[in-house]
Formats: sequence, C-alpha cells, structure tokens
Amino acid sequence: MENSLQYVLLGTLCLCAVPASFMDSLWSTKSHEWKKLILTHHWPVTVCKMAKSECDKIPNYWTLHGLWTDKSQMCNNSWHFDYSEIKDILADMNKWWPDVLHPNGSQLWKHEWQKHGTCAASLPCLNTQHKYFSKGLELYTHVNLNSALEKAGIKPANMYKMEEIKNAILNVYGAMAKIQCLPPQQGEDAQVLGQIEICFTKDFILVDCTEELEDELTEQMSMKWRKSYQDLHVCDKSINIYYPPVQEL
Ligand SMILES: *[C@@H]1O[C@H](CO)[C@@H](O)[C@H](O)[C@H]1NC(C)=O
Ligand SMILES: *[C@@H]1O[C@H](CO)[C@@H](O)[C@H](O)[C@H]1NC(C)=O
Repeated sequence: MENSLQYVLLGTLCLCAVPASFMDSLWSTKSHEWKKLILTHHWPVTVCKMAKSECDKIPNYWTLHGLWTDKSQMCNNSWHFDYSEIKDILADMNKWWPDVLHPNGSQLWKHEWQKHGTCAASLPCLNTQHKYFSKGLELYTHVNLNSALEKAGIKPANMYKMEEIKNAILNVYGAMAKIQCLPPQQGEDAQVLGQIEICFTKDFILVDCTEELEDELTEQMSMKWRKSYQDLHVCDKSINIYYPPVQEL
C-alpha cells in the first residue's frame, strides 16, 4: 500500500523534475540552497482557535497552509505576488488552500509566495506563480491527507497519542510526517492538533520530514500570521492530543 502510493506519486508528479546533479551545480554556490519541499496542511478549527478569531464556515477538512522549502525563505523580494496569474485555479485555491481567517481573501497566498514560493521557484517546474500554486494543489490532491486520516480511524472529536497519528500516516505514505500541536492552554489538559507536514524530495518523492528544523520552518510573519503560528510546536509525545471538531467553535 505504501509503495503503491509512492509509485503513483513518482509516475505522475516527477514529470518536471530535473536531475539532481544539475540543480546542485546550479545552486550549490547560492545561499538559497534547499533540499526538501514541505507540504504543510493545517486544521482550520485550530487555526481559528490560535488566531482567537471568529471564523464562519470553517472547512471540515485539512486545508493547505503552504508548499515550503526546508532551508530558505524570502528568496526574491522583488518578485511580487500577482493574483491574476492564478485566476484560473481560484475555485480550487479557495476550496483547498483558503485563507481560513479571511475567506476568499488572498493574504495567505501573497505571504506564501513571497516567503516560500520565491525559493521553490529555483526548480524549473515551480518557477512561475501559476506552477507553484498548481503544484501545491496537485500534491495536496495526491497525498489526500483527509482520506488517509479517516481510513486510519483518526477522526475529529477524539483524543490521540502522538504515536498513533504518526504511525497512521507512516503506514499510508511510508514516510514520517511532522505533526504540530498547540500546547495546552490555560485550563486544558490536552494539546490541540494543528498542523501536519508531509515532505518531498525535489523530484516529488515522499521522504521523511525532520523535526529538528522546526525553528527554521516556523512561520514567522508579521501581523496575524505571526500571531497565529508562533504557538505551534511539534506535539509532545507524553500529552494527549485533542483533534477538535468543527462544530465546537
Ligand atoms: C527576482 O524576480 C524578478 C521579478 O520576477 C526577476 O526579474 C529577477 O530576475 C529575479 N531575481 C533572481 C535573482 O532570480
Ligand atoms: C467565496 O466566493 C465564492 C464565489 O466566488 C462563493 O461561492 C463562496 O461562498 C465564497 N466563500 C466565502 C466563505 O465567502
């Protein structure tokens, strides 16, 4: 099962990959060198909880937060986000990669492009905004985290241990995910499931995520995104994890 998914990913996703040696020689002298792509999913209920924001119509599924590179950020400040480049994929963007705190808004996409997309763009197959966002959607669809969790019996309104969620994901993808939680808040005795990262090589093959990189990867933007993401950490193995249902807010 895990192998078959890997082959599916290989077969359909690496069409635009270039030989690693070519990329390495092109980038080894630059400071923006990176090795992995991180497909970051977040759980909208937790996003709203972290932002202490009233969200209407919270999606009842994991949505995309971003497609990140593991080692670099803000690689080209003069390459501005251009909404018009993704007009033809807006319906999918709003559904699967929504700005949870500002539905139908594009602040999240602008941020993701400037901070991560401009770095990912060192790959020819991600070197336009249209390619970058389309690829994120494509990877999201192929990974299908929502279905993977559900099949593994990991469902909202329940309490889990970190290992249960980790192993469920490992069984499906054959690779370790990074699982992040909001630590217990005042008066709570469980941490809250918030974010799941699935990692890929530059050839879009599933690969283990690395927890140690946490500090580098933590979203640290000004304004709202900074406020809402600084509290996420790799979940604590020894504390229960609550997976909050949508209707709770
Ligand atoms: C940065 O982006 C601008 C606008 O797309 C482009 O003209 C320029 O070549 C890019 N710089 C680098 C170093 O890639
Ligand atoms: C977003 O826009 C679409 C149409 O463009 C609309 O159908 C949908 O209800 C809007 N979603 C929200 C949350 O406003």
